[in-house]
Parts: sequence; C-alpha cells; structure tokens
Amino acid sequence: MLAGKRILLIVAGGIAAYKTPDLVRHLRERGAVVRCVLTDGGAQFVTPLTLGAVSEDKVYDSLFSLTDEHEMGHINLSRQADALLVAPATANMLAKIAQGLADDLATTLLLATDKPVLVAPAMNVRMWGHPATQANIDTLAGRGVTVIGPNEGDMACGEYGMGRMSEPLEIAAAIENFFAANGRLTGSRALVTSGPTYEPIDPVRYIANRSSGKQGHAIAEALMRLGTKTTLVTGPTQQPDPPGVQVVHVESARQMLVACEAALPAEIAVCAAAVADWRVDTQTDQKLKKNTGAPPPPLMMTENPDILQTLSNAKNTRPGLVVGFAAETENVIANAQAKLARKGCDWIVANDVSPNTETFAGDANTVHLVTADSVEDWPRLSKAEVGERLADRIADALEAGHG
Ligand code: PMT
Repeated sequence: MLAGKRILLIVAGGIAAYKTPDLVRHLRERGAVVRCVLTDGGAQFVTPLTLGAVSEDKVYDSLFSLTDEHEMGHINLSRQADALLVAPATANMLAKIAQGLADDLATTLLLATDKPVLVAPAMNVRMWGHPATQANIDTLAGRGVTVIGPNEGDMACGEYGMGRMSEPLEIAAAIENFFAANGRLTGSRALVTSGPTYEPIDPVRYIANRSSGKQGHAIAEALMRLGTKTTLVTGPTQQPDPPGVQVVHVESARQMLVACEAALPAEIAVCAAAVADWRVDTQTDQKLKKNTGAPPPPLMMTENPDILQTLSNAKNTRPGLVVGFAAETENVIANAQAKLARKGCDWIVANDVSPNTETFAGDANTVHLVTADSVEDWPRLSKAEVGERLADRIADALEAGHG
C-alpha cells in the first residue's frame, strides 16, 4: 500500500520515541521510503544510529549543519517527501506547530512544507486534556493536519488515560488509509445511492424491498478510499455509515431524488439503491382501520421518479460517468442492455437477484459490467471486492478521459 511513498518521520522528545524504530520497520515493510529527523528531545530517547540503521538512510538533526545543508538543504528534506509524520508529537511540538515556531530543524521543516502533515500525539493524560493542547489540536486539524490517536492506556509516568501514542502498526495503517484516501480519484466527487426505499401506505405501514445497503455502501467506501469526496444517499438500512463518507439518510424514492440532486455536481454517480418503481397513490394521513367484514382497502399505485434516468439526462448537472445497476431474475444481460439504452446511463452493473443467489442482503455478488459495446463477466466476489473493482474501473475510465 505504501510502495514508493516517501515519508519524512520527525521524532520528537517523548518516551514513545522508543517505538519509532519499530514504526520505521512497519512503514518500510509496506514499501515506504523513510527518512528520519530527530529533535534534541527525541535524541534523549532514541539514537541517530538506531534510526539510521532501520531506515538505511542518514538521520537529520541540525538546522545549522554545514554538511547537511551542502548535501541537501533543509527545505529539500520536505520537498522530497510525500508526507511528513510527527511521531511522537509531544504537547510542546504540537504547540510549536500550531504557533508556527521554527526554532530547530523539525519545526522549520514543518513550517516550510506544503506537503501533508500527520501527527501521532503522545503525552501525559492531563497534558492531553489541557485546553491549550486541545486548542492546538483543533487548530492543526482545521489546517488539514491528520491526527492519529492518541490511545487510552497505562502511561510511562504511572498514570492511566488518553495520551498514549498509537501503536506503530496503527500508525502504519492510518498512513495507508491516508494515502489511499488521497488516491487515484482525489479531487473528484461521487454520488452513490444505496439501500431500499420505503413507500408509505399510512403513518405506520410502508412498502419496501430486501436491499440491505451492503453493496451500495461498499461502493461508496471504495470510491472514498480512492480519494473521491463521496456522498452516499441511502434508504433505511442497518449498515453503519462508512467513515469518511458524507451520508444522507432518506426513506422514499422522492426524498432520494431530492437528496441526489442536492449532492450534484459530481463527476461520478453510481445508483445501487433498490428504488421502488411505484409508490402508494392513496397514502393516508391516518392509520387505515380494519373494519370487520369489510374488504381490505385497495392500494392504488403511481410511478416514482426514476433517479438513474433523471441523473443520466440532467442537462447541466449530468455526472460525467453515470453507473446504474440492474437487478434481474431472468435474461440478465439482455435486460441490463435494454436498461442501459432506456435510462441513458454509461454503464450498468447487472446482477441476478433470483432467491437462490442471495444477492439481496448477502455478502457476495456475481455481476456483469455492461457498457454500450461490451459485457464483462466478473467472478463471484464479496460485495466489498465488487466495490473496489468498480471503483478501480471508474478511476481507469476517468484517467482515460471519460467524463
Ligand atoms: O443492498 P444489497 O442487499 O447489498 O443488494 C444489492 C442490490 C441487489 C440492491 C444491488 O446490487 C442492485 O442491484 N441495485 C439495483 C436494484 C434495482 O432497483 O434495480 P432495477 O433494475 O429495478 O433498477 C435499475 C436501476 O435504476 C438501478 O440503478 C436503480 O437504482 C435505478 N432506479 C430504479 C427505479 C427508480 N425509480 N429509480 C432508480 O434510480
């Protein structure tokens, strides 16, 4: 996941610095190139020799080193990195970054950089809880600095609470997520629909379907991981909101359409929701009463707006790439091709939803990617894998100039 990523690791003066050689190892195992900067405080806990050995690179520690400046120039240290990671980020270091101080090599680099900065705070529980530290964290987060942790637990000072630096494996995972989220689709916006719609009959009853939202949510998450600013418009489901995705909860098809239109403009739209084709025209404000002996009330239906078709044909706001789904129980490909033409979208992901397939609500899906001139059969995959593969195909298409 970190193949080729260049990380400038700034080690500040906290006891958690003893974990940084392990952190360097985990980052390098993932393919990252790690270069270390050690503050005076950091050097009290870990030696340049250790960090140099595990990073297989020179360790930088002085702003006024003639040799280093001659060889590299301190500004180049951050120029040559894809991201700066401060671990451990002590209360003092966070305060300096927040204030824009530049009184040593580490803080000068942090002030001079235009690269993403991530910090892994580590300090005593009361220092972490102090309003000054919290204000500094808010300032840094507001400037786009990614804050990793801290964790709750036993501390070197004998106390217990929030302030332990995240474990090296957690920091490595957070960095992977960071780069994934700043990936191939960074800068683009995506709209994804998911789940069923509920079409009310009266205040207590509704018509719905078996969609769980698993597929749509997985697609939204996969697009977000590639860097899209993703809005997920979902009908009622048990699925947790995917972190990092903006989620709009709706109930009916008409509400879903309003939310989708509000989420535009977007470069990508994926309609995976199982939207009710019809709603009850005879919806009542009062609960329908059962009158003994009387026949059940008839339900008159009327057609719902077609969200996929509306997005595909929007004059000024049509997303560059519109992907629909086709839930079929027979003639899967032929029906999907007909839907592609009728609705005016660019691709259709066709899936068989016959009862024995468990496509609805199951964890796996067998899909066919149908375009105007091709049909691609994908193997049976988990819904998460379908989401990832679809997100990759969308990134391929956008990189090739589609949309
Ligand atoms: O949610 P899960 O349990 O994970 O199940 C996933 C799924 C089976 C729901 C999903 O993979 C799927 O197939 N979604 C589309 C379901 C559907 O409504 O298919 P359809 O063939 O009826 O509709 C075709 C397309 O038009 C779909 O993109 C649908 O979102 C869209 N549509 C349909 C009706 C309508 N009024 N508005 C729409 O936008």
